[in-house]
Amino acid sequence: MSAVIQERRGAVAILKMNNPPVNGLGATVRDALAKAFDALAADDSVKAIVLAGEGRMFSAGADIREFGTTPPPDVPALPRLIDRYEHLDKPIVAAIHGVAAGGGLEVALGAHYRVAAAKTRLGLPEVTLGILPGAGGTQRMPRIAGVTTALELIVSGRLISEKEALKLGIVDELVDGDPIDAAVAAAERLIAEGAPPRRSSERTDRLAEAKDNPTLFDDFRKGMAKRARGMNAPYASVRCVEAATTLPFAEGVKFERAEFANLVNEVEAQAMRHAFFAEREVAKIPDLPPETKGKTVTSAGVIGCGTMGGGIAMVFANAGIPVTVVEAERERLDAGLEVIRKNYAATVAKGRLAQDAMDSRMGLITGATDMAALSGADIVIEAAFEDMQVKKDIFATLDQVCKPGAVLATNTSTLDVNEIASATSRPEDVVGTHFFSPANVMKLLENVRGAKSSPETIATVMALSKRLGKVGVLVGVCHGFVGNRMLHQYLREAMFLIEEGALPQDVDRVIYDFGFAMGPFTMADLAGNDVGWRVRQAQGRPNNRRYSGTIADAICEMGRFGQKTGAGWYKYQGGDRTPIPDPDVEALIEKTSADLGITRRAISDQEILERCLYPLVNEGAKILDEGIALRASDIDVVWVHGYGFPRYRGGPMFWADTVGLDTITAAMKRFHAEHGDWMEPSPLMARLAEEGKGFKDA
Ligand code: CAA
Repeated sequence: MSAVIQERRGAVAILKMNNPPVNGLGATVRDALAKAFDALAADDSVKAIVLAGEGRMFSAGADIREFGTTPPPDVPALPRLIDRYEHLDKPIVAAIHGVAAGGGLEVALGAHYRVAAAKTRLGLPEVTLGILPGAGGTQRMPRIAGVTTALELIVSGRLISEKEALKLGIVDELVDGDPIDAAVAAAERLIAEGAPPRRSSERTDRLAEAKDNPTLFDDFRKGMAKRARGMNAPYASVRCVEAATTLPFAEGVKFERAEFANLVNEVEAQAMRHAFFAEREVAKIPDLPPETKGKTVTSAGVIGCGTMGGGIAMVFANAGIPVTVVEAERERLDAGLEVIRKNYAATVAKGRLAQDAMDSRMGLITGATDMAALSGADIVIEAAFEDMQVKKDIFATLDQVCKPGAVLATNTSTLDVNEIASATSRPEDVVGTHFFSPANVMKLLENVRGAKSSPETIATVMALSKRLGKVGVLVGVCHGFVGNRMLHQYLREAMFLIEEGALPQDVDRVIYDFGFAMGPFTMADLAGNDVGWRVRQAQGRPNNRRYSGTIADAICEMGRFGQKTGAGWYKYQGGDRTPIPDPDVEALIEKTSADLGITRRAISDQEILERCLYPLVNEGAKILDEGIALRASDIDVVWVHGYGFPRYRGGPMFWADTVGLDTITAAMKRFHAEHGDWMEPSPLMARLAEEGKGFKDA
């Protein structure tokens, strides 16, 4: 297979990068491109060159798997290759289709003219991999699209449509048909005009913006502080764009190269590469026969129109799938549908959704009070009250009303999917689909495989996850599945820490500074403290174990359910969501410690971090050992997408490897001795630690 396919149309030569599936710019492609450009430069019969991609897309950029490896010395690195062809005297036209991302777009920016096909996505997503556009992108983009636009595109990493790219001047022409035809036509025009190559590296007009606004970069840095928290790549990107405005192009490229080299082997970049591949690996189910096909889903049903059910209905409508929502009482149904309407209306008001899109989504949602309305649905998701008997009754009815082969899914977050399946005569069609709240926002979907779930059923929910814009992770049956089972460890230690001497704001600060979106107490106030309280009341206190709910119960007894009641672990003023530490809570905590006979002590930030996160990792190891998760990287995906674990740390299991499993195992042994049997180290983790391995080797 040739890494570059060559064609000729008259005086125009066409070069097509050919490295399926995404035309990654690995050494073979770069080598072939360099040689082809050299040959075409020397060929007098060639007057212009069109650069395109074979297959699905133009190019998704550098081959990410090559990072951290040593490239062959005789193959030019991407910046040098682009620089070389940009300086040819023959016009070069990029014919872009599908995706031009990262190095792929940088390759196109080195061309002298750009044509894009319909439905093309373009962007510089390198920051999402912990690096920066290292093939001249930080130098050419501001010269082409202006400084502010370049900053915004590079720091967000978002992919834009071809239409937006045209508006921003990143492409010169859009075409509905074949972009190569249009690029050849453009090339012929340029030949006829005798136009000199238009090199973006030689442009300076768009850089004036920075000279006119001396605080532009500082302002931008301030504006991005929240989203760039804890990361290096966004700041390095800004420095590079700044260099584009102060240094000559060649110097700017050197500066960019040095910044790129500083980032590419750092933990941040390793972690984000890990997350990238983990998100793709998670869709692969090793024991599913390769020929397994999921069932076609053209209509859905949801049972329950509360917060969860309503959110799930929106997820289907957003994906263009008609959905029937069943709620037994008409009043509750109407109220639920009204909440959905208000949610959409709020998005429209913010300008993030067009009114007609809202109307068509609302048009896809039908309400019903009788489950018989689900007889034609290809999949039904039950999101009713979390009670085994309630769920079994619903599934028994679904068994009666649903058509043969329909997937019957439960959104339970704790209950045994096998027991729920036993209420039907078709357990092979039953599966768990555990959405996270708010369902229309959170990306994670834990797909729970029951003992009898068929391969088709599994394949259906895994494929559906992607269609719904979710990251589906296949997990096994156990209490709390992967995410909540691990969360439980973390929350319990947070509670014990405040009994022992820390305050909620101490724990939250450490967890926030680690990179989580928020700490456990802020999260509890947001979610509502009454939910866990009710669960604890139903379960009763453990007989022979330290109880972690003493202070949380007392908080609830005071009616402090969180933000919704204006007070919880914190107080809230004037409808503001900012948590304010509350002396009353502090007094309550101190009194509880005294009542429990605990002498409060100073607790270091390091201890807070270790006590909260090591048991979480330890539980992840047990989950892995039991086969509840297929891979350590699946657990990372759960935590990054469902719980706000910082992506730039890769997820808890990747992070644990960076800490060292020997360190974590030693700490768990200490905790086990000091605190109790719930801290028992995972045998798998202990074994890996002893062998000097990580979860990546498990
Ligand atoms: N390098 C290596 N492999 C890549 C890749 C890349 N740049 N992009 C995608 N792949 C692989 C995926 O891992 C996947 O492999 P498997 O089938 O083995 O799992 C396969 O290609 C298909 O990818 P997707 O499943 O993601 O396909 P998609 O159609 O859903 O999405 C895409 C296509 C939008 C291009 C997406 O793959 C993507 O976002 N890729 C990464 C783009 C990116 O970040 N590029 C920047 C690279 S860094 C760079 O270029 C640095 C520089 O400045 C020189």
